[in-house]
Amino acid sequence: MKFTLVHLLFLCLNLAAYTTGDDQFVYSGFSGANLTFDGAATVTPGGLLQLTNGTDQQKGHAFYPTPLNFTRSRGGEVQSFSASFVFAILSIYTDLSAHGMALVVASSKNFSSALPGQLLGLTDIQNNGNDSNHFFAVELDTIQNKEYNDLNANHAGANVNGLTSLQSYYAGYFDDKDGNFRNLSLISRQAMQVWVDYDHKVAQIAVTMAPIKVGRPVKPLFTATYNLTAVVTDDAYVGFSSATGTFDVRHYVLGWSFAMNGPAPAIDISKLPILPRVGPKPRSKVLEIVLPIASGVSVLILGTIVVLVLQRRFRYAELREDWEVEFGPRRFAYKDLYRATGGFNNTHLLGIGGFGRVYKGVLPASEVEIAVKKVSHDSKQGIKEFIAEVVSIGRLQHRNLAPLLGYCRRKSELFLVYEYMSNGSVDKYLHGREGKPILNWARRWHIIKGIASCLVYLHEEWEKVVVHRDIKASNVLLDSDMNGRLGDFGLARLYDHDTDPQTTHVVGTIGYLAPELGHTSKATPLTDVFAFGVFILEVTCGQRPVNNASLQESQVLLVERVLEQWSKESLLDTVDKRLEGNYDAAEACVALKLGLLCSHPFANARPSMREVMQYLEGDMPLPEMTPTDLSFQMMAIMQNGGFDQFIMAYPSSSASIESTSLISVGR
Ligand SMILES: Nc1ncnc2c1ncn2[C@@H]1O[C@H](COP(=O)(O)OP(=O)(O)OP(=O)(O)O)[C@@H](O)[C@H]1O
Ligand SMILES: *[C@@H]1O[C@H](CO)[C@@H](O)[C@H](O)[C@H]1NC(C)=O
Ligand SMILES: *[C@@H]1O[C@H](CO)[C@@H](O)[C@H](O)[C@H]1NC(C)=O
Ligand SMILES: *[C@@H]1O[C@H](CO)[C@@H](O)[C@H](O)[C@H]1NC(C)=O
Ligand SMILES: *[C@@H]1O[C@H](CO)[C@@H](O)[C@H](O)[C@H]1NC(C)=O
Ligand SMILES: *[C@@H]1O[C@H](CO)[C@@H](O)[C@H](O)[C@H]1NC(C)=O
Ligand SMILES: *[C@@H]1O[C@H](CO)[C@@H](O)[C@H](O)[C@H]1NC(C)=O
Ligand SMILES: *[C@@H]1O[C@H](CO)[C@@H](O)[C@H](O)[C@H]1NC(C)=O
Ligand SMILES: [Mg+2]
Repeated sequence: MKFTLVHLLFLCLNLAAYTTGDDQFVYSGFSGANLTFDGAATVTPGGLLQLTNGTDQQKGHAFYPTPLNFTRSRGGEVQSFSASFVFAILSIYTDLSAHGMALVVASSKNFSSALPGQLLGLTDIQNNGNDSNHFFAVELDTIQNKEYNDLNANHAGANVNGLTSLQSYYAGYFDDKDGNFRNLSLISRQAMQVWVDYDHKVAQIAVTMAPIKVGRPVKPLFTATYNLTAVVTDDAYVGFSSATGTFDVRHYVLGWSFAMNGPAPAIDISKLPILPRVGPKPRSKVLEIVLPIASGVSVLILGTIVVLVLQRRFRYAELREDWEVEFGPRRFAYKDLYRATGGFNNTHLLGIGGFGRVYKGVLPASEVEIAVKKVSHDSKQGIKEFIAEVVSIGRLQHRNLAPLLGYCRRKSELFLVYEYMSNGSVDKYLHGREGKPILNWARRWHIIKGIASCLVYLHEEWEKVVVHRDIKASNVLLDSDMNGRLGDFGLARLYDHDTDPQTTHVVGTIGYLAPELGHTSKATPLTDVFAFGVFILEVTCGQRPVNNASLQESQVLLVERVLEQWSKESLLDTVDKRLEGNYDAAEACVALKLGLLCSHPFANARPSMREVMQYLEGDMPLPEMTPTDLSFQMMAIMQNGGFDQFIMAYPSSSASIESTSLISVGR
């Protein structure tokens, strides 16, 4: 009854370590315990008192820090005391013994002269059994030492001042149910509890042990009669001693309690720390079936993960080089572009141009709408210069410019990221594709003036001369307010280096190419003016610059047709019929004449963009010119063959032909 009350008390106190006073204490686990350590002894982070750590020929001691009062008066009779502890010995072998451990009551904590191995860290060979040692120990011995008359390699014994036991017995317990002896293996790696009781009235030492699940058996394992008064001093220390030999073995104490003149407080088994696992896991039948399946499944899962990761890697793989660091802010992650465009899905396709496909997307983080142009490129050469140009183009700012936000590179692909223009390109309105409404004259005039002002900016107002090189209706985009925005800066640089520099290679689109490009292949602001002139005519007439349907006929060029009408004094007949006469005749006349002037076959005869702007604004009247001299010169060029041949040689809408840098250096 008393035992149960004490037990309950400690359960309620809910403390791992609790000192009940000067003469009793209990540790259910050693976290935060104040003990005196020596040798390898330590408390593990898990709260185990680890006496040895597996190192050979090692000692470990741990003592309650203060001495306990074992006598009622100086030199008096040693009083009754009780100790209880839970221990475990973890050897790397389950069948081979290693050295053991002992509970000690000693006059001193100083065991510096003691030896490891079979001496258990208690004494040395000369002093073994010497009465001046003043220690009492209960050993748990795992090696049979004939010199100490050991029973076997798995026994418990009560010792005084030495290694030869007063009394000992095989490790085990007498089962309460039948009184039969049950063997226990000290090195089984199982936690076991030991009770040591000294009854001073009869000078009897009783040692009891049991597996922790069994509880304290009524019958002790053995008893020894010995008067400890001559052994234990008035003030003595209580603790543990342990030693290793040549095996890798660890000695652990999980819980410990002690009391003078009363039963040792109960150790809370449920709070004991967990022992580390040594060696292979015990294999159960279930495991033998489950393990292969589980490992099979994990291999499968791992394989899948690896495949997915690789796929992802591959899918999102980019080409990134050191020199790109400075372009960092302009560099987009392929992953973002991939996500933005639904994996470059055809449902996101805005159009296919001469260089590649353009996809619409929404950037995942910022929700900015973008148009991504996917260009395939094979050569690494020139890419650095090209990217540098792309990035500097990104710095251009004008209200009639479709901003180039940045780029991304993959192995053989380049991505140019533009701001998305919600109303698409002008060509779709002019040629009535995709059911777009016809642009009224006011809009057309506004777009022409807008693009002209943008070209003034590029040619004359920015820090460098920027030549666009691909001015045409499909590269004039319309923002949400139907403002014309020049987009799509030429990809000439990129294509330059793919081909033999000796060959003539011009970038641009047939119908917009100035004739001199056929000879010099050098893009200049004036070749832009030529293309802009063609653009004005296209917008005004609602006709393509080159009529594909009548490619074989003589009148293939819009410029020629306008000239012809002009010479017939019916210039305004060329204005888009779909406007149904709803246009400003004066403006249309300026547009048509200026278009012709700009697309003059002789570069020197073309106005600069600043002059074009002045004509458009009406700040300056158009110079006097007659259709005949223009047309005469035009014919001369045509008969020279340059242009017709050119059209025959490159029947595609875009031709990639050599040119100089996108940005002309200096001014
Ligand atoms: N920033 C943008 N916003 C909205 N639509 C765009 C944008 N950029 C391009 N597009 C659309 O994508 C289509 C294809 O563009 P792309 O530039 O590839 O071809 P292109 O202009 O016909 O020829 P080129 O390759 O010579 O420029 C365009 O016709 C245009 O409608
Ligand atoms: C441990 O116990 C000793 C002896 O009682 C004492 O001197 C020391 O301060 C204690 N240390 C801690 C951390 O409690
Ligand atoms: C064991 O303890 C000894 C002494 O404290 C130390 O030198 C050794 O490194 C420890 N070994 C391990 C495996 O922790
Ligand atoms: C031990 O107890 C006895 C009797 O109470 C007392 O005389 C003695 O001083 C105590 N010793 C210590 C070290 O407390
Ligand atoms: C322990 O005892 C040895 C002699 O056995 C002595 O040299 C040493 O100084 C003692 N250590 C302490 C801490 O008292
Ligand atoms: C016992 O130890 C003491 C002190 O170290 C020593 O004086 C004595 O000779 C030893 N006795 C034996 C029998 O060795
Ligand atoms: C206990 O173990 C010892 C040694 O392994 C053996 O000799 C003895 O017969 C065993 N006793 C019982 C009851 O199993
Ligand atoms: C033990 O020894 C002490 C001192 O010699 C003595 O007073 C006491 O009676 C003894 N105890 C028993 C049970 O013989
Ligand atoms: Mg384009």
